[in-house]
Amino acid sequence: MPSLIKTFQAGAMQVRVFSSKREASGAAASAAAAILRGAIAARGRARMVVSTGNSQLDFIDAFVLAPDLDWSAVEAFHLDEYAGMAMTHPASFRLWLKTRLADRVPLRAMHYLNGDAPDVEAECRRYGALLAGAPIDAGFIGIGENGHIGFNDPPVANFADPLPVKIVRLDEACRRQQVGEGHFAGISTVPECALSLTCPTIVGMTNLICCVPELRKAEAVRDTIEGPISTTCPASILRTHGRAQLFLDADSASMLGRD
Ligand code: GLP
Repeated sequence: MPSLIKTFQAGAMQVRVFSSKREASGAAASAAAAILRGAIAARGRARMVVSTGNSQLDFIDAFVLAPDLDWSAVEAFHLDEYAGMAMTHPASFRLWLKTRLADRVPLRAMHYLNGDAPDVEAECRRYGALLAGAPIDAGFIGIGENGHIGFNDPPVANFADPLPVKIVRLDEACRRQQVGEGHFAGISTVPECALSLTCPTIVGMTNLICCVPELRKAEAVRDTIEGPISTTCPASILRTHGRAQLFLDADSASMLGRD
């Protein structure tokens, strides 16, 4: 059975469905590495935004093994972080990025979003200015069970957000997902707020590689592809991006209506 089951357009976005999570993640990692190689060949450097979460584990494991990629030319940023969380907390996205990316490849820089900064509004401004310093060649963007991108949950997502990075209040579905993934013992220990790149910042990246495997994402994937372009499913905005590629497995694609 071929690993690529089907490919189609959803608006401007290209969708590819693979038979397994491993194959979808490997294909996403190959596409990600090709974009970075192209940026380095053109400009001598590349800048990327990397999302975290359990759904991104196979992707990052394949990505760090990409052949012929000059990591010393690559600057990395992240997408979001819990407010008030120390980097030593097991659920910290900074810790995830340090152990799974920055400790494994010799990056030019890993720019951490410090969720426990004393002034988180100032930290959002600092990070927004860093991001704005040059184009972001690629964002590797997951989609949450509630359709979020970054931590732009439906109640706080704004497709015309004036801020590049902002403080958000996490919705209940998002906080429950974090418990379900095993990062917290119960919902009361999940932080109520986070720092997140906003929707316009994400859509403003030159290329988007969105790896969204697993059955628990099937509803969000259906709404992303087949629902209205609306903040009720923030990821639906990805359909407006002409250089966005969505990598699915058979499970996450299982609720799609088309043939
Ligand atoms: C997480 C993070 C994002 C990630 C997305 C998918 O909660 N906010 O950085 O892209 O949601 O990850 P997960 O595998 O946890 O669903």
